[in-house]
Amino acid sequence: MGAISQLAMLLFAPGFHGKQTALSPAGPQARTIEHTFLLIFWITAVVYVIVIAVLAIGVWRARIHGNELPPPQPANPVHDRIVARIVAGALGVSIVLLFIMLVSSYRTSHATAALAASSALTINVYGHQWWWEVEYPNKEPYKIVHTANEIHVPAGVPVTIHATSRDVIHSFWAPNIHGKKDLLPGYFNDLTLEVDQPGNWRGQCAEFCGEQHAHMSFEIVAQSPQDFQRWLSAQALSAPGPTTPQIAHGEQVFLSHPCVMCHTIGGTTANSRVGPDLTHLASRSTIAAGTLPNTIGNLAGWISNPQSIKPGCRMPPNPMSSTDLNDLLAYLETLR
Ligand code: CUA
Repeated sequence: MGAISQLAMLLFAPGFHGKQTALSPAGPQARTIEHTFLLIFWITAVVYVIVIAVLAIGVWRARIHGNELPPPQPANPVHDRIVARIVAGALGVSIVLLFIMLVSSYRTSHATAALAASSALTINVYGHQWWWEVEYPNKEPYKIVHTANEIHVPAGVPVTIHATSRDVIHSFWAPNIHGKKDLLPGYFNDLTLEVDQPGNWRGQCAEFCGEQHAHMSFEIVAQSPQDFQRWLSAQALSAPGPTTPQIAHGEQVFLSHPCVMCHTIGGTTANSRVGPDLTHLASRSTIAAGTLPNTIGNLAGWISNPQSIKPGCRMPPNPMSSTDLNDLLAYLETLR
């Protein structure tokens, strides 16, 4: 199957070799889905080739007669019987092939759902226009972790994504890991996934949800269970207090500008949930839902005028002096 997958990847996903593609599965569900895809792909490919070949032969034979209609043939019961058998045979084969695809599809749904029973960890995911809120629930409120656009999971363990939307319908899709699941406002949908090995996989919103639908991606970060626990404990901590006058001023800039109206930074008075939680902003690899790498320069551009990067996004421009911006960036860099 390996060579076939490679071929299919070349055909359908140039530029995504081993990255974001359902044809490079990294978990048991994606593997099951890939098997069904390849089965249906090859059955339909062979049927297509046969149908086109028969059509081509018919057209070719018609051309031999030119524009003249062939002369009426005398009744030929033997010939008619052969034609009737060929049509009946083709019909029978079609029914059998459709039945095989139906059974395969049903078995895939069953197999992908079967993992749910053994899930050890639940992660709440909320779709927003146009980013992903990620919450790791805990019985002790101070241990609840909020992050954005980066879903850390332990590798080799079934994890349930408990998902809903805060506004319109979105669709959660990490093709290397699992199929799609819609995020509906006011209703929770569950998806249990498992990633074989530590590594990163890109996912994205797969349901048109407004003008920045295309900039609504996320990353699944699979870690060894120990690394995952370490990450989770670190994320549960509040932001460290400022250690230099510049950083202290940066924090003041944050708390005295509109930033505080939408974002949370643990350990400060900023506690709004309209936008992403920034308590550990500097630990993330991208900003603006996978739109830009998380660098100082990109962050400066994003804070100053997000509308020039993601037109229509919910974050307004934030004009401020260069000193204020520099100190704010210095502060945000401490949020590891
Ligand atoms: Cu969210 Cu498309």
